Amino acid sequence: MNDKYYITTPIYYPSANPHIGHTYCTVNTDALARYKRLTGHEVYFLTGTDEHGQKIERKAAEMGYTPQEYADKITGGFKRLWELMDISNDGFIRTTDKRHMECVQKIFKKLYDQGDIYRSEYSGHYCAQCEAFWTETQLKDAGGVCPDCGRKTEIAKEEAYFLRVSKYAPRLIEYIRQNPEFIQPVSRANEMLNNFLLPGCEDLCVTRSTFKWGVPVPFDERHVIYVWVDALANYLSAIGYLSDDDSLYKKFWPADVHIVGKEIIRFHTIIWPIMLMALDLPLPKKIYGHGWLLFDGDKMSKSKGNVVDPFVLVERYGVDAIRYFLLSEFPFGNDGNFDNATLITRINSDLANDLGNLLSRTVAMAGKYFEGSLPAPTASVPEEDAPVIEAASSLWQRMDKAMDDIHPHAALAEIWKLISLCNKYIDVTAPWVLAKDPDKRERLGTVIYNLAEALRVIAVAVSPFLPNTSPKMFEQLGIEDEALRTWDSIKEFGGIRPGTVLHKGEALFPRIDAKKELEFLDNMIEEQRKKAAAIKAAEENAEAPAKLAETAPAETAPAEEKEPDGKPMIAYEDFAKIDLRVAKVLDCVEVKKSKHLYNITLELGEEKRTVLSGIKDWVKPEDIIGRNVVIVYNLAPRKMCGIESCGMILAASTPGDADVVPLTTLKDIPSGSLIR
Ligand code: MSP
Repeated sequence: MNDKYYITTPIYYPSANPHIGHTYCTVNTDALARYKRLTGHEVYFLTGTDEHGQKIERKAAEMGYTPQEYADKITGGFKRLWELMDISNDGFIRTTDKRHMECVQKIFKKLYDQGDIYRSEYSGHYCAQCEAFWTETQLKDAGGVCPDCGRKTEIAKEEAYFLRVSKYAPRLIEYIRQNPEFIQPVSRANEMLNNFLLPGCEDLCVTRSTFKWGVPVPFDERHVIYVWVDALANYLSAIGYLSDDDSLYKKFWPADVHIVGKEIIRFHTIIWPIMLMALDLPLPKKIYGHGWLLFDGDKMSKSKGNVVDPFVLVERYGVDAIRYFLLSEFPFGNDGNFDNATLITRINSDLANDLGNLLSRTVAMAGKYFEGSLPAPTASVPEEDAPVIEAASSLWQRMDKAMDDIHPHAALAEIWKLISLCNKYIDVTAPWVLAKDPDKRERLGTVIYNLAEALRVIAVAVSPFLPNTSPKMFEQLGIEDEALRTWDSIKEFGGIRPGTVLHKGEALFPRIDAKKELEFLDNMIEEQRKKAAAIKAAEENAEAPAKLAETAPAETAPAEEKEPDGKPMIAYEDFAKIDLRVAKVLDCVEVKKSKHLYNITLELGEEKRTVLSGIKDWVKPEDIIGRNVVIVYNLAPRKMCGIESCGMILAASTPGDADVVPLTTLKDIPSGSLIR
């Protein structure tokens, strides 16, 4: 057996905080790495961050950071998340690491010196968001926008260096045809051949000179190296290729599998193999493209506010519950739909009921009927026991198959079939009935023994997936001997020794209050959506922030009259034209036809007024009713949604309208008071 195993995740862009999609990929890769270790392989598991490129440069500038500061900040978040999720990576590579940058420069120079990279000029359709140039055909097929992200591309022209993709493409086509295992799932291989390789590959532009944040071309510092060449090289730089200490490289290259999302298979199965062919290095054995995690059927995106935050989920439900959900619910090669209700159901039914109760019932019965000491089974196997024993002793084979196919979800399904058989076994054998008949004591002992042994098998089998749960199960089953925690030990039924003392412990997965939790999760997403919508509205309507746009008169000053950092200076007389007054909020109700508006009844001394205000996303009626607010009293009335609004409530807002807070008075003062 080849016992070394090199497995990688993509290196993630630290352009925004990690979300459940990144977690999905990393947790699945972690389960594969842990499984390989458990089955006797020497594993190197690599993850990291991809920190260069125009997108990060722009994002950092927007946020007021240098690119390095920004990348440090977000990369810190990725590292914290992987610790929290119990990710067992052996290496973490950042493309801003010196060791990586030096390696990329050496690769580039080597390819240039041997003529596989050359200098020329490039003009094409460039997507700044994806850092990708697209051909006419690709752009046309996608309806004139970037095929990956759907944004508008721009024409970019520059002197640049090119990789001789055309030279190696025929060899690559042949390789893909000869090695059906290389691109998985197989459908993706056909897609690469038919859509990209067979129509003909042009040489690839591998440098940029329009921005600075990248690895400089070592002999021509006006150019930085194309971010994908930089990024893909991480799989070699992290293990010391072309460095003083290349022992890891010698041991682990070629990689056994690169796990990547389906949208980046193209880079991994075309550019990467061609770079490797040009370097005269063996190709990775497999590129596995997994599907996307959608939210309620929609692509997750910060701008839609439907991004699920793994930190919140883990804090609420625990690491293993979230790992289990990510690993079991979504077949790895397909797109999957994340929804809150399913998450909660799976925690309660699969973890709390099926697994948790099986363990607690078994330990409790051993305690009640045998004072906690495991009885010996009888030598003969009654028919009733055969399915459990057979399923437990052959579980490892079905799991091996599933994991070799990179189907962690299928391996977990096999474990849960055994769990379900055990629960049925309890129902069928009814130990509480056996316990009443002294003649059935031996039979009772056998049932409890079989359950404990099956649970030992389950504890070993779940360890790559639920690394915190497995030790808790061993603890309750009284299994201290390391030899009974190994993969080999589950290949034969009967490892757990009679006389082993079982200990009652805490519930593995306490049941959660489904209604309350669903409300919590749904509210969280709803809040995010509102914030995202407000930010979008404010961006689209930069001159008139979202909530005021709906209350302001139509004739707001045209943009060009404003000064760059605010509104133009005005004379006191101008200010004095605005009649500001204190008003008391008597009532506040939603306007049915509007997403943002409240219909607010105000009291100003003797007078009552109706004002419509777009503060619904930030303020609850109960927070404002009875309070003083400040209004523009002499604003021309304006009709919205069929209701006349007389005046405008003033509110302060944070950048991007993340928060909007109505103004009030320091202490109570009669309504109608003038503001000067
Ligand atoms: N930096 C490049 C990869 C370079 S690898 C040499 C990149 N980064 S990324 O941050 O945009 O995303 C990388 C990966 O994150 C995806 O390929 C995928 O594995 C994972 N995912 C990001 N969003 C995801 C979902 N919504 N669902 C599932 N996986 C997702 O591309």
